[in-house]
Amino acid sequence: MGKILVTGGLGYIGSHTTVELLQLGYEVVVVDNLTNTTLDVQDRILQITGKSFAFYQVDVCDTDQLMTVFEKESISGVIHFAAYKAVGESVEKPVEYYHNNVSGLISLLSCTKKHNVHSIVFSSSCTVYGDTKLSPITEEHPIVEAISPYGTTKIIGEQILKDYANFSEARVVCLRYFNPVGAHSSALIGELPLGVPSNLIPYVTQTAAGIREKLTIFGNDYNTPDGTNIRDFIHVVDLAQAHVKAIEYSPNMNMSFDVFNLGTGKGHSVTEVVEAFERVNNLKLNYAYGERRAGDVEQIWADATKAKKLLGWKTTIELDEMMRSSWAWQKQLAN
Ligand code: UFG
Repeated sequence: MGKILVTGGLGYIGSHTTVELLQLGYEVVVVDNLTNTTLDVQDRILQITGKSFAFYQVDVCDTDQLMTVFEKESISGVIHFAAYKAVGESVEKPVEYYHNNVSGLISLLSCTKKHNVHSIVFSSSCTVYGDTKLSPITEEHPIVEAISPYGTTKIIGEQILKDYANFSEARVVCLRYFNPVGAHSSALIGELPLGVPSNLIPYVTQTAAGIREKLTIFGNDYNTPDGTNIRDFIHVVDLAQAHVKAIEYSPNMNMSFDVFNLGTGKGHSVTEVVEAFERVNNLKLNYAYGERRAGDVEQIWADATKAKKLLGWKTTIELDEMMRSSWAWQKQLAN
């Protein structure tokens, strides 16, 4: 295979995927506009892997600049991460979300089409399943109307890719992530949340670090064993490895378009996660139970059998290590 273009390759999941690709000997080209990351991630990836890669500070929505990257580099596959991802923010800024996530994808597809790049892997989300009671959930579950503009951009993105693949030589793999957490074992790369985090783990680690006073667990009156929501937390390195498997799978697909759940197949409650964090890191977290958060799904976890069977991928990292690496990353952020 030729070079792999990773859009958003300096972001949270993108940087971990870039590391996995480089470690396997792939040549990587990264495009990132640095809105949700910093340039030093490039050096950190180099430090981890000992391998360099081409980097372009380009916004995927800028088709002319993106086309230049395709002209300069001989790209054989694309893993497309570059997108906004904050559910709450998307409710306040729907136009920005549709512009960035949908126009960005269309811009990318004009480049792949012109340059005959057929292998495409797309970041999607389990949010496409909506509020379901049917966990473990398979890819057969119908897509429902999303509860946020962010979720809608993922549904629209999948549909655009399906239509594109249907009438071209493209081979598209959509990966529906459950809850990505954790950081690289080197603690050199991880998630860089901007402002007050809305996701659980960055809020937990920032509370432990004293940046936030207290974690509120949103609701303990759900119909679950301990009353708190259940999610399928997946370590970002396991997730990154699935992208490598997906880009390798893509040229040999029988179908032009396919979707895969990426989760561990195990659900953990929010309380379990907080207790695991305290236990493995040997600390006490300041937390309390509060009101439910609007829009939260009660419980959802993946049936990831299809990814195991067709991509030859499975998760290997358990909850304890997710909590350990999240804290190690937070601690080095303070240095
Ligand atoms: N939670 C708290 N307190 C917090 C933050 C979160 O109790 O301060 C709880 C939430 O109520 C939820 C769980 O922790 O029960 C996980 O919440 P996150 O915000 O970390 O993640 P979500 O499950 O809400 O969202 C994730 C991804 C989205 C994706 C969605 C699909 O972040 O990108 O799954 O369900 F769209």
